[in-house]
Amino acid sequence: MKHLIRKLLRRLGYDLIWFEPDSKQVSSSLDAKLREIYRAHDLLSGTVICTDPRTGNISYLKTPFLVEEVVEEMSRLALESVNACLSPYLQMPPETIREYVLEFIDLYPRRPIAHNVGGATFHNCFWLYLMCRCIQPTLVIESGVWKGQTSWVIRQAAPDAKLHCFEIKFPSQLAFRDEAIGYHEHDWSEFGVGNVDPQRSLIHFDDHVNQARRVEEAHRRGFMHLLFDDNFPAYQIHKDTKLIVPTIDMLFDPRIKTGVRLDWFNQGDQSCTIDETSCLEARGLIAKWQNFPTVEPESQAYKARLGGHGANSKFAYVQLEPGGDSAPGH
Ligand SMILES: C[S@@+](CC[C@H](N)C(=O)[O-])C[C@H]1O[C@@H](n2cnc3c(N)ncnc32)[C@H](O)[C@@H]1O
Repeated sequence: MKHLIRKLLRRLGYDLIWFEPDSKQVSSSLDAKLREIYRAHDLLSGTVICTDPRTGNISYLKTPFLVEEVVEEMSRLALESVNACLSPYLQMPPETIREYVLEFIDLYPRRPIAHNVGGATFHNCFWLYLMCRCIQPTLVIESGVWKGQTSWVIRQAAPDAKLHCFEIKFPSQLAFRDEAIGYHEHDWSEFGVGNVDPQRSLIHFDDHVNQARRVEEAHRRGFMHLLFDDNFPAYQIHKDTKLIVPTIDMLFDPRIKTGVRLDWFNQGDQSCTIDETSCLEARGLIAKWQNFPTVEPESQAYKARLGGHGANSKFAYVQLEPGGDSAPGH
């Protein structure tokens, strides 16, 4: 219908722009507005910009002591979580974590996509950046690129790493593209990664694929550090339109057993029946896992200052048991 009306109007010499709150048009006008603001305000580091995708309203905090409080809260959270994830291999000192938090706060307003509909926002980008910065990987695999926002985050955090990005269907145009990145339009499991240094390699899975399968594939190739988006517990299975069963969380849920049927509604009735065999196998390969805390601590003051930035889609770290074909010694 839109297509027909657009065609008719074009014949009359008009172009039709639909107003849809979450559409690309809003996103690109926000991008333009953000760029204008950056230029006009010569933005300082320590600034976090809030954008409201529906109204296009932009706001940010300027009071130095409040900005400092935000940085303190984020650094405290980051120190605890990152060190819990990376033990026993790596422990980061507080001053380094604080430095990385400041870097991220300075960086995020320069992201290629202001309003990344269908992709990672502040929360995921923050943890992805911090983990990359701490691990300093020489090899990163990303599965699920969409328009390239998280590929950009990885590239900023690990500029010298070999980065391979896998996407089942790239959009017609990537918002971020880097000549040094290997782009592959197929599933990563068909790719020969070569030798993997487990402690200096990282995989970011953001592809809506069965997470037990991803654990098994990564372990077989010798990876140890994995990041997963959408690690929803079973009771939040309805939150995503694309089914991911099992998630890492579900692998450790004693109620998710063979034969159990999960039912939910998301754009129609959905259901699936659990087969525990692959769950048990994947569970045995995981040394530990944890979801990152929302970068939006309990304090209401924080929420008031940073607005609705913290959308938490259960971004998780998974550490695998040593082993696999590509790990040194195999
Ligand atoms: C949530 S989006 C990724 C968001 C992205 N990381 C960002 O920067 O915001 C999920 C993407 O995974 C892709 N995808 C689905 N199956 C895949 C597969 N088997 N391998 C790689 N990508 C896949 C989809 O096409 C989609 O673009």
